[in-house]
Amino acid sequence: MSHFSPHSAVAANADFDVQEIRKQFPVLHQQVNNRPLIYFDNAATSQKPAAVIEALHHYYTHDNANIHRGIHTLAERATAAFEATRLAVKELINAREVEEVIFTTGTTDSINLVTSSYGRSFIQQGDEVIISAMEHHSNIVPWQMLCEEKGAILRVIPVTEEGELQLEEYKKMLNERTKFVSIVYASNSLGTINPVEEMIDLAHEQGAVVLLDGAQATAHLDIDVQQLNCDFYAFSAHKMFGPTGVGVLYGKRRLLEKMPPYRGGGEMIKNVSFEKTTYNDIPYKFEAGTPNIGDTVAFLKAIEFIQQVGKKNIAVHEHQLLTYAHEALEKVPGLKIIGKAKKKVSVVSFIIEGVFHFDIGQMLDARGIAIRTGHHCTQPLMDIYQIEGTARASFSVYNTTAEIDSLVEGLQRIVKMMK
Ligand SMILES: Cc1ncc(COP(=O)(O)O)c(C=O)c1O
Repeated sequence: MSHFSPHSAVAANADFDVQEIRKQFPVLHQQVNNRPLIYFDNAATSQKPAAVIEALHHYYTHDNANIHRGIHTLAERATAAFEATRLAVKELINAREVEEVIFTTGTTDSINLVTSSYGRSFIQQGDEVIISAMEHHSNIVPWQMLCEEKGAILRVIPVTEEGELQLEEYKKMLNERTKFVSIVYASNSLGTINPVEEMIDLAHEQGAVVLLDGAQATAHLDIDVQQLNCDFYAFSAHKMFGPTGVGVLYGKRRLLEKMPPYRGGGEMIKNVSFEKTTYNDIPYKFEAGTPNIGDTVAFLKAIEFIQQVGKKNIAVHEHQLLTYAHEALEKVPGLKIIGKAKKKVSVVSFIIEGVFHFDIGQMLDARGIAIRTGHHCTQPLMDIYQIEGTARASFSVYNTTAEIDSLVEGLQRIVKMMK
């Protein structure tokens, strides 16, 4: 039996057919080092379905134009397609209003927008910001930079040996000086799904504003920003079957309206004169310059893909893979899983006694298996566990248990060889 509780307590839909899903991903059908590719690096970036690739091609073949300012047909088409994605994002995360969806270049950019705009305006000397020990560097460094600039204090929620946040410590940390809590919904290196609803409520009781880093959560979990009641929610299209270079910052209107622009330039203004410039309304106030139109347009197809497969089917399939992988990997001699939280997304980090993680990655690549090795941009977390890094296999909706068997077989050979 698995030791984690499913994050979605539904039975798999009998209609779900992983082989049919695989057909939609051209990149999967190739040999790497004379073996069929097994792609287990989904937490770094997911693969793209043909519909996304075709949408990108279609956009540049038929509709390419700059958006919002043009009056010609192509500009209108490009604008409509760009804004259609914004509407789809609003629906995907259940934002109250479409204006609360800001396009950025990725999660990193979204978090920097918040630290630079909200943070610089509303966080002062002596204020406290809380993050957690399992944050990605992109949810550490921008806050460090802000705290340094402002003389604010950065506090870090510790983790348990299993890879869960120590909630009692979090509760003790919260006080009237806490102005901001910025935490990861699902950890990229441990897989842990954090109890964010409870954490958000606790932060709000102290009047603090909360950002969720949804980079790893959005492709795997049902996201309802109104139910979560987070103030900001950041994520990247490329980790959820969309193109690279597109991200989203959701923010509550009330907060976005009082925040100053992050970058100046075209699009974010109403009127410009040398004496005074007035700024555009949200979301455009935060979208200076020509955005990544083509990739944003194609992102719509990624959202449609998720909706067609269904978040429940995705969750159930990935949970089965995760459970299967945990049980199979634990049989590999000397292998230790790092991150055994009760609730996890489909990420398995591990180390093998006497084998450097980088070598594991290289030897698996020789067998056509793509995993990630290293600190996964969570170096402070690795320091806590006193390891340099891990080997990480992360699964997506198109992966199979047969692929996990190949991973385990590969690891068993590596262990034998290294003896
Ligand atoms: C949890 C988490 N947060 C933030 C990021 C940064 O995302 P991006 O590089 O798309 O900005 C990542 C990427 O790996 C991540 O896993």
